[in-house]
Amino acid sequence: MAEELAFLSRTRTWDAFYAEAKIAEFRRSIYLEAFGEEYPADAATDGYITCSELREMVEALQVGRGQKIADLGCGRGGPGQWVAEATGASLVGVDFSAVALEQAQARARSRNLPACSYRRGSFQATGLDSSSFEGAISVDVIWAIPDKPAGFAETARILKPGARFVFTDWERDLSPPGYPAPVSDHRPLLLEAGFEIERHKPWPQADSLRRTFYERMLARQGELTSGLDAKTAESNLREARAWLGLLDGVDYLRHSRRVLVAARKPA
Ligand SMILES: C[S@@+](CC[C@H](N)C(=O)[O-])C[C@H]1O[C@@H](n2cnc3c(N)ncnc32)[C@H](O)[C@@H]1O
Repeated sequence: MAEELAFLSRTRTWDAFYAEAKIAEFRRSIYLEAFGEEYPADAATDGYITCSELREMVEALQVGRGQKIADLGCGRGGPGQWVAEATGASLVGVDFSAVALEQAQARARSRNLPACSYRRGSFQATGLDSSSFEGAISVDVIWAIPDKPAGFAETARILKPGARFVFTDWERDLSPPGYPAPVSDHRPLLLEAGFEIERHKPWPQADSLRRTFYERMLARQGELTSGLDAKTAESNLREARAWLGLLDGVDYLRHSRRVLVAARKPA
């Protein structure tokens, strides 16, 4: 019961985030300012993925036309649609936010991407068929899943033998209070779920871009507080202050390493 309530509360938090169009616009203007050419404008992400990482994801996935990939925690769909277009594969996006999924569907329609479809589900229980995908991606979601072993086991279940799971996330020794427990290395959990590790690549450049993103957000906080509702403005400012260590003196970004991981389900 307590777990169900926590799940509902996490879903509502993300629904509220996606329902507020102005915050996406504001964050995108900061991404552009902080990331420069590394901001994947075409992929309109709500995470911290860079153009270089997207290109590497495509290379690591090794899928193409006539094949099918899953995008786990797809959000509004941007990075997954970018990968689907780049590879020619069809895509099924899964997220627990119904608001995000509506926007992902609308985005696929407006970009004429009939091979991208969306369904509601959680990382741990996608509702997708077993051994039915030639690949899976996830962009900046795993940190948010409380039960990571269950999420990795579910991913292994939906993949065909020989298929790859490619994701970006962070490995951390510490996270600010209120955040899900950090994982300092994803590899033991992936091995436990039956994956072989093909790549495990730290991405320090993306970590420093994220620091710049938060610094720019705080520099422009007047726009945030005057243009948005107080709750949304405060939660965004709190995120920036928490990670930069302005709330409790711990610079949490220094305890956080961004990684791109490719894991293969044995053939
Ligand atoms: C930082 S956003 C990233 C969205 C998208 N991948 C992108 O890069 O634009 C994290 C997403 O994960 C979803 N999410 C978080 N926990 C989830 C879970 N347990 N099951 C399904 N989706 C989840 C949220 O609703 C949100 O859309």
